[in-house]
Amino acid sequence: MILIKTPNQVRSMRRAGEVVAMVLQRMAECVAPGVTTSQLDAIAEAVIVANGAIPAFKGYRGYPSTICASVNEEVVHGIPGSRVLVEGDIIGIDVGATVDGFCGDAAATFPVGAISRDSQRLLDATRRALEIAIEKCVVGNRVGDISHAVQSYVESQGYSVVRDLVGHGIGRSMHEDPQVPNFGPPGVGPRLRPGMTLAIEPMVNVGGFEVEVLENGWTVVTRDRKRSAHFEHTVLITESGPEILTVLR
Ligand code: MF3
Ligand code: CO
Repeated sequence: MILIKTPNQVRSMRRAGEVVAMVLQRMAECVAPGVTTSQLDAIAEAVIVANGAIPAFKGYRGYPSTICASVNEEVVHGIPGSRVLVEGDIIGIDVGATVDGFCGDAAATFPVGAISRDSQRLLDATRRALEIAIEKCVVGNRVGDISHAVQSYVESQGYSVVRDLVGHGIGRSMHEDPQVPNFGPPGVGPRLRPGMTLAIEPMVNVGGFEVEVLENGWTVVTRDRKRSAHFEHTVLITESGPEILTVLR
């Protein structure tokens, strides 16, 4: 069942989204060669707590950390640890925060120092795929219109979209209906209505779309071990168009 948010619930989601955006802003400042992913996790948690919010990922289905930190061929759900970032890496950071019982969820992929032109092109294309997805978040469109727009753009750039993981409705729970795939035909799926809140999250691979999960049960990597990028926003559907909730205000 797709839940429509009340104006009060939307206010909580704006605050949760702003905290998430603050974390990603701080991550952009802190990502650098020599930094470990667990240091980034600690900084993220401090930002969330200092703003009166709760980390949404920690404890979710047993997930141990505040952020997901996914380096290079890791697609999503990388667990922070002692890994030291090195110049030329790319790192996807995904974070969720809860305010008054409502969630915000967003992700971005950052360069570690100077990166290759190829990796920069991957980041730019994945960020653009998210923008294109959000442009489709208008009342009367269907979820499939978002999916199709992402897949068409990504494949036009010579990349592939991950099929095994999808975006999602979000609210009191981090994962609500509907699923928001990054692939598929237009004109199918639920109609977008005012008050719907969606976490839209294209995951884009340089090589094939196939992924697998590492032994730790969490970390998703590309099967061919080529690089992958991930950007995500929580978006509110309104009569006057999409409102991105995971932004600074
Ligand atoms: N942002 C992720 C998602 O949309 C959530 C991470 S899963 C967790 O599915 F377990 F780490 F919380
Ligand atoms: Co998400």
